Amino acid sequence: MVNDHNPRQVSTNEEMLMRRLRITILVVLAMTCGTKTIGDNVGVDYPSDYRSWQHVKSMVIKPGHALEEMFGGIHHIYANSKAMSGLANGQYEDGAVFVFDLLDYDDSDNLIVETDRKRLDVMQYDSEEFSETGGWGYDTFVGNSTTQRLLQDVVVSCYTCHISAKASDYVFSHYRP
Ligand code: HEC
Repeated sequence: MVNDHNPRQVSTNEEMLMRRLRITILVVLAMTCGTKTIGDNVGVDYPSDYRSWQHVKSMVIKPGHALEEMFGGIHHIYANSKAMSGLANGQYEDGAVFVFDLLDYDDSDNLIVETDRKRLDVMQYDSEEFSETGGWGYDTFVGNSTTQRLLQDVVVSCYTCHISAKASDYVFSHYRP
């Protein structure tokens, strides 16, 4: 017979929860101990002219994908000229900016057509200002807004995943001539 309230199961779940909580607390403490709060990316600007930058690539993340909740939709990646040079030669200079333009899409009649913008993710390079996050400042603008930033910790939400691309300066995209 299946026991819904198996005490061993409950205690394992609790242990897991406590472990996660402890890790979260440690991460938050580590991040807030410095003079400046890491993730306090006040310096990331809204990239007002990004639609005139170079298009790097696009991707569609469909329902069912592991990252659907955060990245579901069609995204286009753009780079300003400094980011484009960095992508080509592997060295970024201050002022390089990448944009991850996430849009909703309509999938019907075997056609995927982009619709409204869901979010705009930005990575801005400044080796001093953002030295604690590999030189890149991260931020997110909600919907079509040029001012409303997502109220979340960009270090946990962005940097911890971009660390896996550390070998290419935290940038996942590759140069395609
Ligand atoms: C789960 C991992 C993950 C998280 C979390 C994440 N990213 Fe990314 N990001 C990626 C991947 C993978 C790509 C490359 C996508 C592609 O190839 O189309 C990318 C691409 C980008 C790019 C284009 C430059 C590049 O690296 O190719 C920007 C800008 C960006 N992300 C910003 C952000 C911001 C801002 C956040 C936090 C709100 C964030 N990302 C959170 C995985 C992540």
